[in-house]
Amino acid sequence: MKTSSLFETVRLGNQTLRNRIVLPPLTRSRSTQPGNIPNELMATYYAQRASAGFMVTEGTQIEPRGQGYAWTPGIFSEAQIEGWKAVTRAVHREGGTIFCQLWHVGRVSHRSLQPGGEAPVAPSAIAAEDVKVFVETGPGEGALANPDQPRALTTEEVEELVKLYARAARNAIDAGFDGVEIHGANGYLVNQFLSEHTNHRTDQYGGSLQNRLRFLDEIVVAISEEVGADRLGVRFAPLFESTNEERVYLGLVESDPHGTYLEAARLLQRRGIAYISIAEADWDNAPELPESFCAELRNAFDGALIFAGRYTPEKALKMLAAGYGDLFAFGKPFIANPDLPDRIRRGLPWNEVDPATMYGGSAKGYIDYPTYDSGQETAGPVTAPAATEA
Ligand SMILES: Cc1cc2nc3c(=O)[nH]c(=O)nc-3n(C[C@H](O)[C@H](O)[C@H](O)COP(=O)(O)O)c2cc1C
Repeated sequence: MKTSSLFETVRLGNQTLRNRIVLPPLTRSRSTQPGNIPNELMATYYAQRASAGFMVTEGTQIEPRGQGYAWTPGIFSEAQIEGWKAVTRAVHREGGTIFCQLWHVGRVSHRSLQPGGEAPVAPSAIAAEDVKVFVETGPGEGALANPDQPRALTTEEVEELVKLYARAARNAIDAGFDGVEIHGANGYLVNQFLSEHTNHRTDQYGGSLQNRLRFLDEIVVAISEEVGADRLGVRFAPLFESTNEERVYLGLVESDPHGTYLEAARLLQRRGIAYISIAEADWDNAPELPESFCAELRNAFDGALIFAGRYTPEKALKMLAAGYGDLFAFGKPFIANPDLPDRIRRGLPWNEVDPATMYGGSAKGYIDYPTYDSGQETAGPVTAPAATEA
């Protein structure tokens, strides 16, 4: 299969995308303070990357309690909606398609980020261990901190949260987004309901797999009624081994990830959403997704399937040839290469990302990574991707 296959058009919901390359959700923590408001700098950043066939914003809190890190943007206040309008306008001017990632961190938060300094909320009062959140220590200054002990949501509060997701989806459409993605991955609130490690509830939202899927399902139904299932995607992070401590604190290890996420996929198939996005483990020596899971996921779900996690053009072409995936996201490579699709198409070398400027800060390490054709010095060392024809 040739690199050109990544540049075929592809359907997602009722849109036709111009290629199969995705800018995945990437938290960059550069919203305007106070108020976590999207700004012109962010509009420039997203517009620079609009040659992706599909883009998803950084995680965007649906309500004040949904925030777990300093300076991440929201989608609940009027000022935030206005701020996002500049972003969607800039992306659409470049012909891009962009969804908003709806984020609620649940227990992965700190009192300093919570309204009134209250405890973060979660399915159950089980603290996130060995994970750090990023809190503000002064104007533009921050530090890592332990998440605070959460309190369990009441049943009424869970039902209220479903409505807040639908409200946020409506706000996103009003702000000009083409659709929304529910962040169901990486140990945040939806994932906390899915995992038996973090969900010890005894009401209809806990216990059996069907009950643990209920919160997600109700959000999916509510958003679909509000903006349409064809404008909705869900992101998951299924993990298949429990040897790495790191995965336990995120609440990601499930005793039966295969069963959990296939059941979730069947549910989403019935709901008719546009896509499922799979965030694969992306650390050194991370476990691969079992091929049997990829095959069964494909069988269970007719919508578009997006994969991310240390993808190279070669790995994407392999997944495409096998029929397992439709779109492929490049995270760190897209931070460092605003013209990534062009570099993939032409087999050009890639700039390397600078980890120091990933979260927070200014234009540096955000909108100043050069395109290949600008001929400028790169921000970091250059790595040549492997051969582009596979
Ligand atoms: C700086 C940074 C911020 C991220 N923020 C988010 C986020 O807000 N939401 C999300 O679902 N994933 C987030 N991720 C995960 C990425 O979307 C992606 O799955 C991951 O980077 C693996 O892809 P890569 O190996 O191509 O970078 C983030 C990753 C990085 C490096």
